Amino acid sequence: MQIITSLDELRNLCYQWRFSGVKTGLVPTMGYFHEGHMSLMQYARANSDKLITTLFVNPAQFGENEDLDTYPRDLERDAAIAKAQGTDILFAPEAGAMYVEDHMTWVEVPHMAKRLCGISRPVFFRGICTVVTKLFMLTLPSMAVFGEKDWQQLAIIRRMVNDLNIPTEIHGCPIVREADGLALSSRNVYLSPKERSKAPHINKGLQVGCRRVKEGEKEVAAVKQAVRDYWQENVPDAKEDYLEIFHPHTLEYLEKIDGEAHVACALQYGRTRLIDNCSLA
Ligand code: PAF
Repeated sequence: MQIITSLDELRNLCYQWRFSGVKTGLVPTMGYFHEGHMSLMQYARANSDKLITTLFVNPAQFGENEDLDTYPRDLERDAAIAKAQGTDILFAPEAGAMYVEDHMTWVEVPHMAKRLCGISRPVFFRGICTVVTKLFMLTLPSMAVFGEKDWQQLAIIRRMVNDLNIPTEIHGCPIVREADGLALSSRNVYLSPKERSKAPHINKGLQVGCRRVKEGEKEVAAVKQAVRDYWQENVPDAKEDYLEIFHPHTLEYLEKIDGEAHVACALQYGRTRLIDNCSLA
């Protein structure tokens, strides 16, 4: 595995691959790898000739009072994991190399970004779309793989790639969970032991909603109330940021469930913001 920090070196190598018919798979990450990241690398490895993993804590997607400075980082450990998963190139640039001082161009999908996570994180998806576009331009990957845990991110990237005719196939991989149901996240390290033991109730609450839908409930308000009642009883100290039921691809909010539907939530638990989602199909 080659560790590359230079944008030019990355572009030269990846363009040679792309134009000589080598199928390249890109896994964009912010590092501090867990099994979820590994599953993305394994998927890309199995479906492409060359695997490019990127590790960049993207300042543009963090708001002013968010955890950019404290976001967990461990390049040495991440490099060992990326190598073990069959990564050919680990791209780990400096922030100054990705964003020149007078950077002023942004990629946005505002209609889909101003809901769900975007309400409390107004610059989040603009930062993601911009950095992902830059990574696509630098590597021209045949395919790119993202986790379904960030469902809104995946839906927005699919839309952006479609709207901008970017020649990259987008693939989503299922959420990887701890045995007790907690979705893996680099930020789970922020949870105190007590919070960690109760955090799985967030997913269990969503499962209560899924069961209500399977039993025939069609009213979104009733499904959301069932989820909230469960949270209130089992994890009352977690503060809901949002709980929404929406169309899985357009992200349009639903009032009635009579076709494809998805539920997603974000809760602030102590200093940790936890997100989760599942299909209501
Ligand atoms: O999902 C992430 O880790 C990030 O949002 C991404 C896609 C690597 C962009 O910084």
